[in-house]
Amino acid sequence: MLLTGRHALVTGASSGIGLAIARELAAGGARVALMARRLGVLKEHAAALGENAFALRGDVRELRSMQIAADHVKKKWGAPADLVVANAGVAASGPVAELAPETWNDLIATNLTGAFHTTTAFLPDLLAGPSDLVFIASIAGTQHFPHWAAYCASKFGLIGFARSLREEVRPQGVRVTIVVAGAVDTGIWPAEKKPDPAKMLRPEDVARAVVQAVSAPAHVSFDEVRVLPAAGIL
Ligand SMILES: NC(=O)c1ccc[n+]([C@@H]2O[C@H](COP(=O)([O-])OP(=O)(O)OC[C@H]3O[C@@H](n4cnc5c(N)ncnc54)[C@H](OP(=O)(O)O)[C@@H]3O)[C@@H](O)[C@H]2O)c1
Repeated sequence: MLLTGRHALVTGASSGIGLAIARELAAGGARVALMARRLGVLKEHAAALGENAFALRGDVRELRSMQIAADHVKKKWGAPADLVVANAGVAASGPVAELAPETWNDLIATNLTGAFHTTTAFLPDLLAGPSDLVFIASIAGTQHFPHWAAYCASKFGLIGFARSLREEVRPQGVRVTIVVAGAVDTGIWPAEKKPDPAKMLRPEDVARAVVQAVSAPAHVSFDEVRVLPAAGIL
């Protein structure tokens, strides 16, 4: 139980990769707050994890929502979060000529500004002691794909933000890990764009990489972890 004594919060924990991360962290002994917008689903997942997990409704697009989440964790566990996973995200694809401003704004607000909100709300707590801040980025943040311009923009931005932040907070004992994941079989994929599920990663594959990074000894940092399907970039 390498994570016993850790207090974690995972955004976007109501499904897919975030849920798998919450489960793996709990299995490792951490106390886990599962955060997303769908409280009913979250409560069911948290209940299945037992008394070391609880559900928290929140929207990463709103800074206040994330500040409330940080306070809630302290109240619930009697200790600040020392392990935060900024995972919440949305996707949309299509040619830029047909990209609605609302779609662009929502992707940037969730995937990029949402990670910023998560960071600023929890940073005072993370700076209080040795801690981990994990960003779930994407291969779409390191290479471009036609028809995914808004998603790529949000994930390229996320990686730039997280890399800069890492050098700011490294001296204060906050480990920043960026997980660059390839195609994972989750509901985020528009049906017509989804690759062959047999070739895709499972959410648990990404979750195990996260647990490995955050349970490494204090003198080790998995700064950036690339987890790709063995079949390559799909
Ligand atoms: N699947 C892939 O191939 C893949 C590859 C690389 C990276 N990623 C990244 O992995 C992350 C998780 O995606 P997934 O594939 O697991 O998809 P998913 O199953 O659709 O999960 C997305 C999660 O984000 C939450 N969310 C969305 N908007 C939110 C908001 N405004 N505030 C709080 N929570 C919000 C959703 O919950 P609610 O709807 O309940 O709020 C859900 O729990 C995303 O950042 C995605 O970009 C995915």
